[in-house]
Amino acid sequence: MLVVRNIVKEFRSGEQLLKPVNGISLSLEQGSFASIVGRSGSGKSTLLAILGALDKATSGGVVVDNVNISTLPDDKLTAYRRDDIGFVFQQYNLMPSLTAKENVMLPMEFAKVPRAERAARAAELLNTVELPPEVHDRKANRLSGGMQQRVSIARALANRPRLVLADEPTGNLDEATGNLIIELLGGLARRQKTTILVVTHDRSLSERTDRRFRLAQGKLEEITRD
Ligand SMILES: Nc1ncnc2c1ncn2[C@@H]1O[C@H](COP(=O)(O)OP(=O)(O)OP(=O)(O)O)[C@@H](O)[C@H]1O
Ligand SMILES: [Mg+2]
Repeated sequence: MLVVRNIVKEFRSGEQLLKPVNGISLSLEQGSFASIVGRSGSGKSTLLAILGALDKATSGGVVVDNVNISTLPDDKLTAYRRDDIGFVFQQYNLMPSLTAKENVMLPMEFAKVPRAERAARAAELLNTVELPPEVHDRKANRLSGGMQQRVSIARALANRPRLVLADEPTGNLDEATGNLIIELLGGLARRQKTTILVVTHDRSLSERTDRRFRLAQGKLEEITRD
């Protein structure tokens, strides 16, 4: 279960104080499939980075399975990011000189998974996101945007995280591949009880999630269906 308590994030930009996240609270049960929409610059990536412990809030707390990650020491935080969270970055953030498969193997290496098992699981995950086998051993910087996006999704799932945070995971995919990813994420939520929170402008994705939120003026509001 993910509990967010009144988080605020401020950025100072010259004379201005920006608060893209200004008092956000949220609770997601384990196994929730949820989405956040909001205009460009509304703070979606900022919020996701705080939930993923990639950035610190100015104030407020994030509690995951009764552990307050806002106050965890660095070594525990590293373990938390490695073992419990799968993060899909808006800009993918792959290691450019590693191959697709090596990128997916990397988090498993940090988790000390034996090499043969890493290679097998990486290939399996890349097949699941329908990355063609002939590019599994191609360097990430020689893959198309949509291919890199799929590698970044496969990498996020490598260590079977309990929480997946995905920033526009279908943003660069054609409709058929996008649907495949939506099925995959929905399946993880329902069958593996993985909590999935996506930021998306893709209506076919946001409409398939069980809970939908809108971020505007630093506040998060749940969109209720009528
Ligand atoms: N490190 C930073 N320093 C200063 N300002 C920042 C920083 N990161 C983000 N911001 C500002 O915070 C606001 C929210 O940015 P954020 O990237 O979270 O938006 P977003 O909703 O993800 O937008 P998009 O849909 O374009 O990806 C913007 O005004 C941005 O300029
Ligand atoms: Mg963003």
